[in-house]
Amino acid sequence: MSTAISPTAYNYKVVRQFAIMTVVWGILGMGLGVFIASQLVWPELNFDLPWTTFGRLRPLHTNLVIFAFGGCALFATSYYVVQRTCQTRLISDSLAAFTFWGWQAVIVGAIVTLPLGYTTTKEYAELEWPLAILLAIVWVTYGLVFFGTITKRKTKHIYVGNWFYGAFIVVTAMLHIVNHASLPVSFFKSYSAYAGATDAMIQWWYGHNAVGFFLTTGFLGMMYYFVPKQAERPIYSYRLSIVHFWALITLYIWAGPHHLHYTALPDWAQSLGMAMSIILLAPSWGGMINGMMTLSGAWHKLRTDPILRFLVVSLAFYGMSTFEGPMMAIKTVNSLSHYTDWTIGHVHAGALGWVAMISIGALYHLIPKVFGRQQMHSTGLINTHFWLATIGTVLYIASMWVNGITQGLMWRAINDDGTLTYSFVEALQASHPGFIVRALGGAFFAAGMLIMAYNVFRTVRASNPAEAEAAAQIAVVGAH
Ligand code: HEM
Ligand code: HEM
Repeated sequence: MSTAISPTAYNYKVVRQFAIMTVVWGILGMGLGVFIASQLVWPELNFDLPWTTFGRLRPLHTNLVIFAFGGCALFATSYYVVQRTCQTRLISDSLAAFTFWGWQAVIVGAIVTLPLGYTTTKEYAELEWPLAILLAIVWVTYGLVFFGTITKRKTKHIYVGNWFYGAFIVVTAMLHIVNHASLPVSFFKSYSAYAGATDAMIQWWYGHNAVGFFLTTGFLGMMYYFVPKQAERPIYSYRLSIVHFWALITLYIWAGPHHLHYTALPDWAQSLGMAMSIILLAPSWGGMINGMMTLSGAWHKLRTDPILRFLVVSLAFYGMSTFEGPMMAIKTVNSLSHYTDWTIGHVHAGALGWVAMISIGALYHLIPKVFGRQQMHSTGLINTHFWLATIGTVLYIASMWVNGITQGLMWRAINDDGTLTYSFVEALQASHPGFIVRALGGAFFAAGMLIMAYNVFRTVRASNPAEAEAAAQIAVVGAH
């Protein structure tokens, strides 16, 4: 096998930009998470101002962590992976740059408009129409860059990680455009094109698939590249990865009604959503097992490699939350869990344990590479980050389980004469210790992000432009 350096180079600039912004938005989004968690402990932190109330800052938290932090991680890694696995530069530098600046503009727009109270009121789709249109344009451009790069690939094969990224891009475009169909009545206000139960169904078809395609399928693309790379082992079963892909994308799209149990949605639709959610356990665990088993023969590396630990623990949390989700989709279980902190615990088992941990692991792998360094400035600090993140996640989800089940049971407790045993305030008082533990767990997680920022800063500062440019050269392995 001969290794020749081709004259062309990868576009690592846009990868570097998105990677750095992932850390920046991660700190802001999670810092805000700690703040709103603290508001639930000390309500005085609402400051009696409309802009700083929990109700306005909560959607800003979700937008920052999902779209700013998660989105930038997905852009950074997908641009990196698609170039490396296709052995070619991105199809257009200017379009890629447009996606970077356009995406940051949408985020800044969210930071300005949400605290001011401009919102469509649809969860995870709160941004008003001018920002929603900008987002759609950026997203379609992202699709052009990604798929355009695939069409000019130097390899015969399209690596499975790109299939996952590709599905995430296509389906997110579809969800965003359909769910945002609305009638603007002013520059800052629009009304949904759908009404009543139809509106709710479209919203949760969007909402659940935002979880399925944005928070899961994209990150599985990340998993299929970075786990084998960091473990230095081929993926356990390539065949399973293909079955995993088709089964996952076929099933996810049907599960949305589990968010609307016991509502005005027709009963058959609720039951269908429940059944599809239970079946979804199979492909989810197929993917999790495929990732985990990739470590066969490399488990000993976990002792010395904290990056691999991030990746493996993220898979464990993925397995856990995709077991919990199907259980919560069962109508009788949902009648207890819905509206309670159990849902919040489930969300963060996925969001912190899976989404954030896999992104952090992938970034620790990628950042030295795109800045032309051998490794991160400090492995010891990655290890500290790993423990802060793991302990923080466990504190968060354990406290929310206890709170959720306590709330669910207290709300449904009935006296012999049919009256409620507990008032709402009593259930809230019982939740207070759990709120404190959750805020503490969140603070652990966010502190880990600050350590990451320092480690990244030192790594970037040590890199020089010539080294970074040399690292971007496309090394063509073997004769093509
Ligand atoms: C330091 C870390 C974090 C803390 C302290 C935190 C805290 C919170 C709090 C207090 C809420 C509101 C809960 C309620 O209404 O009762 C919330 C909601 C939410 N957070 Fe976080 N969060 C963190 C990280 C993240 C991350 C990284 C993600 C996603 C990648 C995320 C996604 C969400 C979502 C989707 C919701 C809304 C859940 C729902 O409506 O059911 N969070 N978070
Ligand atoms: C097989 C996989 C999964 C299934 C079947 C599932 C199912 C569920 C169910 C039944 C709920 C509660 C709905 C309610 O009572 O309102 C829920 C909420 C949620 N799940 Fe999952 N889940 C899965 C995986 C995940 C993963 C991996 C993540 C995150 C990365 C996640 C994020 C969320 C979020 C954000 C919500 C809250 C939505 C809201 O009400 O705002 N889920 N999920």
